[in-house]
Amino acid sequence: MYIYDEYDNSILRQRVAQFRDQTERFLAGSLPPEQFLPLRLQNGLYVQRLAPMLRINVPYGMLNSTQIRKLAHIARHYDKGYVHVSTRQNIQFNWPDLTEVPDILSELADVGMHGTQSSGNCIRNTTSDQFAGVAEDEIVDPRPYCEIIRQWSSFHPEFAFLPRKFKIAVTGSEKDRAAVQVHDIGLQIILKDSGEIGFKVYVGGGLGRTPVIGSVIREFLPEEDLLPYLEAILRVYNLSGRRDNKYKARIKILVRALTPEVFAQKVEAEWENTKDGYSKLTRAEIERAKSFFTEPAYETIDNAAAQAAVDAQAAESVAFSKWLQRNVRGHRVPGYAAVTLSLKPTGVAPGDITDSQLEIIANLADEFSFGEARTTHEQNIVLADVKKSDLFTLWQKSKAAGFATPNIGTITDIICCPGGDFCSLANAKSIPIAEAIQRQFDDLDYVYDLGDIDLNISGCMNACGHHHVGHIGILGVDKAGKEFYQVQLGGSASNDASLGDVLGPSFGAEVMPDVIQKLVNVYVENRTAEELFIDTYRRIGATPFKERVYAKAN
Ligand code: HEM
Ligand code: SF4
Repeated sequence: MYIYDEYDNSILRQRVAQFRDQTERFLAGSLPPEQFLPLRLQNGLYVQRLAPMLRINVPYGMLNSTQIRKLAHIARHYDKGYVHVSTRQNIQFNWPDLTEVPDILSELADVGMHGTQSSGNCIRNTTSDQFAGVAEDEIVDPRPYCEIIRQWSSFHPEFAFLPRKFKIAVTGSEKDRAAVQVHDIGLQIILKDSGEIGFKVYVGGGLGRTPVIGSVIREFLPEEDLLPYLEAILRVYNLSGRRDNKYKARIKILVRALTPEVFAQKVEAEWENTKDGYSKLTRAEIERAKSFFTEPAYETIDNAAAQAAVDAQAAESVAFSKWLQRNVRGHRVPGYAAVTLSLKPTGVAPGDITDSQLEIIANLADEFSFGEARTTHEQNIVLADVKKSDLFTLWQKSKAAGFATPNIGTITDIICCPGGDFCSLANAKSIPIAEAIQRQFDDLDYVYDLGDIDLNISGCMNACGHHHVGHIGILGVDKAGKEFYQVQLGGSASNDASLGDVLGPSFGAEVMPDVIQKLVNVYVENRTAEELFIDTYRRIGATPFKERVYAKAN
């Protein structure tokens, strides 16, 4: 992974000193709150319902064990003993004390971490596929390009005060695991037969109040043109995006207002000016970025023998075989596997990890995965480089730490925002709804029989929990001061990205598990062999689901 050099470190140190001074002046009353607000946002600090929230960037989800131990230390000494993995692969502290935030940022700087540009109207953390570099279906490793974007966008003076926040995601595999079509800019890496690498460029996707699937504005952008082209997109947005209305300020609104075709023409025209300018990537620069993502010291392993040994262990233990089935996936290097540690046991807020669990993850990463771990946008943790011969031991250790719930990709692997429990913008709680649904689906064999189902919950229309792109999406709504839940069906964040359709009137919290059960029953009764929930929904439409959940009891 990329390790900060002396320039990065000195910039970070200056930033921490600056923020310490700003915080002290704010606390002393000499810096008014309205002036402190943009300064704290630039460092990832929100003020929330019960306490501030500090958002820490995890570029494309990559963490080393030293960083993970530092997060554990901060959670223990400055917070309530846990952290939260967000749907943008970031780490959030929910209870820091404002007076201590400069100390926290200083501790983070020791390990090359920060909250810079994790909030505010700037280019946010670039996200990617949690299996980048190891996925069997990978075409090109997206991480060097993410790192190039990170270095270019951090402190980019022209894009520090955009009309609104700006999110970029990059995928390099056949299957999009980075939800690129619901980002302000989504980049899908393409490898031509000629060996030329480039990007398919999506623009204007996003969730929130006005959910939109991104439009393709360029089918192939050569890799050396990445930054000039991004610059052109951002410049058009920065000049023409709306600043008069916060709710109409995202690039998706501009793209829709102009039409994607006209927006693309404007970008191409702008690009003409900068095409061969300072930001055009040279071969040497691309190679420099790639040099941070070299292969770890993989051993030469006989895959067939390793797999046979795992199969024998699986035959002895049903629990281990279930875990293999859901939480372990293939790896492009023979004899290795990628393991997802589930942060979704029933009764724990999805994505929460305690300080001691973080330390265990750091130890597991050191012992089994070359000292690295990754956060996922589904709010889990991945150990990407595990030897198959270590899987059984890793399973036992992760089980003891509470990470081995074998539910990855199933209906209980719920994406869920903090909702009314923490977030001041919430219309309704979301964590208790997730828990109630997990309890409803507590029979693992049944859950496996249902296959992959994305169930996503947001506590308000800001859509932090990605409810629009869940196969089943749940949105908290407020009706005359009471909490209700709207159900949406048919969303997807994958290659076939789509936005869910609202099923009908919303429901009270107490009936939600039953409503979800009825939806699942309709699926089970109608599916053909091998058909996933989303495919059955797309085939039979909303009516049978509506009829079931809104049927009058007689
Ligand atoms: C608790 C403090 C939080 C606040 C105040 C907050 C605020 C917001 C707001 C205002 C939006 C809508 C922006 C827009 O589209 O115009 C948003 C969207 C979003 N937030 Fe949060 N959020 C919070 C926590 C979280 C958490 C915990 C997560 C991750 C689980 C998260 C991830 C996201 C994501 C992924 C979006 C996506 C919307 C998009 O791409 O358009 N946020 N958040
Ligand atoms: S979706 Fe709404 S309730 Fe949930 S975290 Fe985002 S802003 Fe808060």
